[in-house]
Amino acid sequence: MIVAAAGSGSRLGKGSKALVRLNGRTTLARVLELFLALDEVQQIVVVGPPSRLENAQREVEALHPRKPVIVRAGGETRQASVRAGLTALGECDYVLVHDAARPLVTAALVRRVLAAAIESGAAFPAITPRDAVKRVEGNRLVESLDRSRIVLAQTPQAFSFELLARAHREAADAGLVGDDDAQLVAATGHAVTVVQGEPANMKLTTPEDFELVEALIREHEAPAMSPRPAKA
Ligand code: CTP
Ligand code: MG
Repeated sequence: MIVAAAGSGSRLGKGSKALVRLNGRTTLARVLELFLALDEVQQIVVVGPPSRLENAQREVEALHPRKPVIVRAGGETRQASVRAGLTALGECDYVLVHDAARPLVTAALVRRVLAAAIESGAAFPAITPRDAVKRVEGNRLVESLDRSRIVLAQTPQAFSFELLARAHREAADAGLVGDDDAQLVAATGHAVTVVQGEPANMKLTTPEDFELVEALIREHEAPAMSPRPAKA
């Protein structure tokens, strides 16, 4: 398992999204807790922001993991970060790649993606867009796309380890920088399976998302303890 957590969170504006607290707990801790509880996951590499690796390491230690979790510095792009994760990962048959910025991932979703990857070698979850989908140039509509042929890709994505490692090598050689790992694997010519994603598995990206994701989490959890106001 690779947790991509090395981004700078520039659109959210709260520093590294992996270390942002939602209802009192960081997205990294939330994601790690879920993956540590899954029997299917044997080892985890967290690729964290180079300037805040110690914070990421502390988050890991606080969970007292009972399987190996290593923290490594990520790269300039998400792709470089995942590649660093692949290098750090010990020998394994399958690898899951998940964005730390998707704290609402569920065990059912992980299992669905993994099962499809074991079948076909490569799989990712996606949901269909609710809105009409357009291609534009500047502020002009260029093309109205057939929504039934479009999906919005999520993580976790799952692959045979060999296949993902090869896809990253080939992308680096070709100078291809992709948005996700499914894109790199597809570029090798290998088929990639789409499985049903979850609308709630949204990626914390903007300040509006923050409000929404935290509200969703609060629905299921007691509110975080706030420090008691000091008495005069
Ligand atoms: N990511 C990463 N290494 C990078 C860039 C992104 O590991 N160099 C990770 C992020 O930590 C995040 C996931 O990839 O979990 C999805 O990226 P995104 O939502 O774009 O996060 P950021 O790059 O942090 O945010 P922004 O683009 O707004 O700066
Ligand atoms: Mg980014």
